[in-house]
Amino acid sequence: MKKVNPILLSAIAASALLGGCVSRGNNPGWEYAPDMYYSKGYEPYSQADSSALNPHGMSMRTPAVGSVAVGKGEFVYPYENNGAGYELAGAELTRPEGLTDPNGRGEYLYGIYCAPCHGATGNNDGAVFQKAANLKPAWKGYTDPYIKTLPVGKIYHTLTYGKNNMGSHASVLAPADRWRVIDYVKQLSMPTASAPVAESADNAATEMESAN
Ligand code: HEC
Repeated sequence: MKKVNPILLSAIAASALLGGCVSRGNNPGWEYAPDMYYSKGYEPYSQADSSALNPHGMSMRTPAVGSVAVGKGEFVYPYENNGAGYELAGAELTRPEGLTDPNGRGEYLYGIYCAPCHGATGNNDGAVFQKAANLKPAWKGYTDPYIKTLPVGKIYHTLTYGKNNMGSHASVLAPADRWRVIDYVKQLSMPTASAPVAESADNAATEMESAN
């Protein structure tokens, strides 16, 4: 008689054993200490069949459409993602009063999210624009009159929704940070009015030389 393959035999035995534990539908099979899986207290997102009042037995109901979480009012943005919304934002939106810029946060965030395209000083010479010049906007850099005179509300709208080749930055910049970055863009667009970036770099170099 032919010998039975021992590997095959153990595979059959194992599947017969494990088969007893396989869950079917909502039945999880054997559970040890179910209290560890199913909390006795109400948990908003995990209790799926405890409440007699809510749909599907959920502990928490889905918030009503348009609800805003407490303290998240600044995320409400009433302007639509179209030309009319852009114009309205430009006409109505203003920088929040009393906004501070702790530790040069605007400049810091600009370096992370904007410089790769627009360049460290806003000359549209970042690594991306150097490689793909076809992506560049028509204006030459932030010192272009277009950016100098561009209403901050329009810039905020562009940061929120994106514009053509520039993507939305809403997921990486909270509203207050968008305004901080806009402050920095305006600072770069008028280098003579405030600290000129290139000059301060020169100063740093001179200081280092004199220290040596
Ligand atoms: C992927 C490259 C890219 C990145 C990253 C990027 N931009 Fe842009 N940006 C563009 C392009 C392209 C345009 C031109 C859009 C158009 O008008 O077609 C533009 C336009 C703008 C404008 C003019 C907006 C307007 O309403 O006309 C401003 C201001 C600006 N960017 C600032 C920023 C800031 C601030 C950041 C960082 C938060 C940033 N950009 C990140 C590519 C980029």
